[in-house]
Amino acid sequence: MTETATPPAAGRCPVAHGFDAMSDDYYRDPSTHFARVRDEHPVFWYPWLNAWVVTRREDVLRVLADWREFSSSGNTATIEVPEKHRDVVPQGLMSEMIVGTDPDLHTVHRNAALRGFTQDRMEALRPQIEERAHRILDKIETRGSGDLMEEYCLELTTQTLLAHLGLGWEHDAMMRRLRGDMGRVLSSAQEEMPAEIVDEVWERFAASFARLQAVVAERRENPGDDFISDMATQRTRDGAYVLTVPQVALHVCEFALAGADTTAQAMANAVLFLAEKEHYVEEALQDPALWANVFEETVRRRPSSPFASRKAMRDLEISGVRIAKGDMVWVSLASANTDPAHVERPFEFDIHREDPTDHLAFTAGRHTCLGQALARVQGATGLRVLFERLPSLRPAAEVPLDFARMALLPVRLSLPVVWDVADVERQKKRVKREMDLVLTGREEVADGVVALRFAHPDGDVLPDWEPGAHVDVRVPVDGGVLVRQYSLSSSPSQRHEWRLGVLREEGGRGGSRAVHDRLEVGARVRLGWPRNNFRFVPSPRYVFVAGGIGITPILPMIEKAEAEGAEWELHYGGRTRSSMAFLDELERYGDRVRTIPQDECGHPDLPGIFAAVRPGTLVYACGPEPLLTALEGALAHWPAGTLHTERFAPRKVVRDAPDEAFEVEFAQSGVRARVPVGKSVLQVAEEHGITALSSCKEGTCGTCETRILHGSADHRDSILTPAEQAADGTMMICVSRAARGCPRLVLDA
Ligand code: HEM
Ligand code: FES
Repeated sequence: MTETATPPAAGRCPVAHGFDAMSDDYYRDPSTHFARVRDEHPVFWYPWLNAWVVTRREDVLRVLADWREFSSSGNTATIEVPEKHRDVVPQGLMSEMIVGTDPDLHTVHRNAALRGFTQDRMEALRPQIEERAHRILDKIETRGSGDLMEEYCLELTTQTLLAHLGLGWEHDAMMRRLRGDMGRVLSSAQEEMPAEIVDEVWERFAASFARLQAVVAERRENPGDDFISDMATQRTRDGAYVLTVPQVALHVCEFALAGADTTAQAMANAVLFLAEKEHYVEEALQDPALWANVFEETVRRRPSSPFASRKAMRDLEISGVRIAKGDMVWVSLASANTDPAHVERPFEFDIHREDPTDHLAFTAGRHTCLGQALARVQGATGLRVLFERLPSLRPAAEVPLDFARMALLPVRLSLPVVWDVADVERQKKRVKREMDLVLTGREEVADGVVALRFAHPDGDVLPDWEPGAHVDVRVPVDGGVLVRQYSLSSSPSQRHEWRLGVLREEGGRGGSRAVHDRLEVGARVRLGWPRNNFRFVPSPRYVFVAGGIGITPILPMIEKAEAEGAEWELHYGGRTRSSMAFLDELERYGDRVRTIPQDECGHPDLPGIFAAVRPGTLVYACGPEPLLTALEGALAHWPAGTLHTERFAPRKVVRDAPDEAFEVEFAQSGVRARVPVGKSVLQVAEEHGITALSSCKEGTCGTCETRILHGSADHRDSILTPAEQAADGTMMICVSRAARGCPRLVLDA
């Protein structure tokens, strides 16, 4: 166990022997470390910090409540800006940090920043946080182990902060550096910075500060809808700016520190606490509102910032201990939150406490954490997504005490975790994921066909996909939205942009008309993650058949076939040449592409094309129903499994007898129910509160595919091949029912 050696010359009495904010015991669990000394010394002098430590909740509240007696100015006033950086960071500026000022200056600066933290602003950030959490996990989920702190917690909090501040990816590295540098600078007011790092920390800090000032000045001229613009453009009644450019830049530095590590520490700590109470994960997965409790109980039990500090403004007494004017007073939030005088079973991690927010992790009074709404939204959402995706995630067998050892802001640097990669496939069936993208391009590519290009608002890479994938698009229409599926027609190697092709269907249900009439470049559109029911299977030879807009999923397949050196040919039919999209892109493939405009050449001669069986050939086709039906006929003498199709509209189901009611058992949930005539299994599942994803509800998208554990289905979808349907492994519960003579289906849901 690491413990500090002899303390510097003691200044005051009493001193709590055994308390050591540099020891392993403290970093392992600050709350229990305080508990060891609290009864004997509720207030004690800690010579290492040259400060009094206050441990009882009642005393802590008293200190936090009265800024006239206990000033925050000691938090920053003594920060010494090295001479050579004072032209960029003026010496006096550091004392204007929100956390280090008293009224009235504090009130002005805090109010200027408050607009960025309203509950409404936070709720608006929630979907973005969720989406970012998914994107981060997309990149690591198949690995089975990792450093949760760096790869997830800090990644998520830093990205969220960038989004909130309206800073693009080009500022990402700076914000990460600033996080650590600002921590060192702030702590230097009270804990001396190690001499060997002073130069490099200030060098980097001054460079980041200069860059931020330039951003703030620019936002003042061209404000956007972001937190920096909010602060930079606020004016007093007489028209003057409330904050100067350097003051706004300073506050952004404060947020870089306060906003990233604190919440990241809390998420990592939650994972450690949950490992001791595994059933809580299951409970919170069942009732997601409990993730907020997990977060609150974590910061109660282990506040990310175990102290808040103040300066005594007159001679006074706390719990019988005399404190002199000018002394620093550190209130222990870790101790106050586990004070048995206020909390029952203080050291137990219990997510069912009557008032989960009854703690001081965010302090109280005028300086109560400005970002707590963001911390709460982010902490609870980050934990929920993490465990929804990887419910088996646990700390690794060995978790080192890897901390940046600062008493005020101890920072856990790593948290090794492990998870079962089987979670990945399991969760894909449970969680339907969507994201807001921006329409970046729109081009007429044929009569009645537009190509739409989508990208992330912040330019990040999009989720991976394979040829044959489609996405759900939420299309705004009068009085709501319609969800429509469109194939991805760009190249999977284009990681920053997706392209879809949409045919205007006058006689359709309105989705494509709305796409054509309403979606303009710049629009934000909600899209689902790619799904694939039209998988491209490796083969030495392919024949592609496309009818009209059915060319869209075929384009990336051709690219892959080319890349893999396979033999291939495409038969591409359409009403007229001008109605056939992407012909220019296909030109480079020469005579491997046969274009068959109907007005010039009639229908494709499918019986002729497929007269001779070509062994080892797969046929991929997408187009209108008559083309696909004709193709099934033309390939009847080919080996089973040759033909892979994707349909725009549901296949016609021929029923030779009326439907019957049957019983369904949802094995995971233990629910048994009757599926009456006129209702789908999906509807019955939804009525019983069972998580069942769905999208098209007509058997064409594959979202609702569910494993059959027992029984046999009457398959009415347009996705499964005849062989897959016969195998009865899965069914689309939006349309398919129990097979005739099968009274009960048992499903994995
Ligand atoms: C688990 C997460 C968090 C914890 C435990 C936490 C805790 C604290 C604590 C203990 C203080 C000191 C208050 C005092 O001196 O009395 C504070 C202040 C502050 N926090 Fe947080 N914080 C968290 C997240 C955030 C976030 C996400 C942001 C913003 C992006 C933020 C911004 C601030 C600011 C600006 C202050 C200064 C407020 C003032 O002095 O008026 N915090 N926080
Ligand atoms: S919801 Fe689309 S196949 Fe069932």
